[in-house]
Amino acid sequence: MTSTSNRQIILASRPSGWVSPDNFKLIESPIPTPGPDQVLIKNLWLSLDPYMRSRISDAKSYAQGVNPGQLMVGGTVGEVILSNSSQFKVGDIVLAANGWQLYTATNPSAITKIDTSKISSTAYLGVLGMPGITAWRGLMEICEPKPGETVVVDAASGAVGSVVGQLAKALGCRVVGIAGGSAKCAYVVNELGFDACVDHRSPTFVQDLNAELPRGIDCLFENVGGPIFEQLLTLMNPFSRIALCGMVSEFNKPPHAHKTLRSILVNRIKLQGFIVSDRMDHWADIRTKLSELVLSGKLKFRESIVHGLENAPAALVGLLKGENFGKQLVKLTDD
Ligand SMILES: NC(=O)c1ccc[n+]([C@@H]2O[C@H](COP(=O)([O-])OP(=O)(O)OC[C@H]3O[C@@H](n4cnc5c(N)ncnc54)[C@H](OP(=O)(O)O)[C@@H]3O)[C@@H](O)[C@H]2O)c1
Repeated sequence: MTSTSNRQIILASRPSGWVSPDNFKLIESPIPTPGPDQVLIKNLWLSLDPYMRSRISDAKSYAQGVNPGQLMVGGTVGEVILSNSSQFKVGDIVLAANGWQLYTATNPSAITKIDTSKISSTAYLGVLGMPGITAWRGLMEICEPKPGETVVVDAASGAVGSVVGQLAKALGCRVVGIAGGSAKCAYVVNELGFDACVDHRSPTFVQDLNAELPRGIDCLFENVGGPIFEQLLTLMNPFSRIALCGMVSEFNKPPHAHKTLRSILVNRIKLQGFIVSDRMDHWADIRTKLSELVLSGKLKFRESIVHGLENAPAALVGLLKGENFGKQLVKLTDD
């Protein structure tokens, strides 16, 4: 053990409008003692994800929110450093949802041992974790693209979007990404193999989008919402499909007044919202398939790392402004 106290970040106040680091507070507490059959975990990595902005709002949602004074929630990778359980031994690396803190005492049922012999532990928070599984479910189970169809995904360089595009390319689709800035667009095309990428920050965004989509959109994997979704709806083909995964651009603002919903009617679009945790029974199978693709070099990923628990609030704000480039992680240890 390298520290004598636990450090935690709690929600200090609910944001109204844009979230700020001032909405969070760093506190110290004793390192917890594991009870019978429990383990003590030293958390090594924390995942930052857009859903965290929803959790700290008081809007009705699919999951229990975080109240002021409570620990921030979040996916973690950690190491077992004390074990009273026959199922885990000291040194095991585990996936958990231990939140924004350095140490956690928990039950074996709340953690999953991961194999880090061939793939890095951080991949289990991204490409092999909740974001990668989200990509698989939305694309394969809702969009169901066929070879030759046009698939569009926004937030294309991010944790979910990057997997969506690569899976769709492997299925033989034409894949167009949307991302913020020329560096992200270059990465999406040159490194991930998308056919094209349109920069939504460019003043010619609408013209560029129309130019890249002369045959419209058959499958839209929607991550962003707001004006980008508005524009994409005008390009949907008859009998096209939309997997409505996220609306990250609308989290810190009043809801966007969508004016192009009529496209859903006139084009007989199938639109389905989904939450990845609805079908936890699918996760192990999907993770195995994604692992095979990563190991064979067919699925690439990129990470954006900040150092230190104390920097998690600013990094979450950055993620919601598009400052991350790839899966956003916080490294919790110095070693
Ligand atoms: N339904 C589910 O179960 C589920 C599960 C996981 C994630 N999600 C959703 O999937 C989406 C992507 O998540 P992720 O983890 O992959 O995040 P991410 O793409 O790694 O990071 C968020 C990205 O969103 C984009 N963005 C933020 N604000 C924007 C704005 N105003 N306009 C346009 N783009 C904006 C930025 O990319 P650019 O700079 O490229 O714009 C930013 O980098 C989110 O909406 C998230 O809530 C849903």
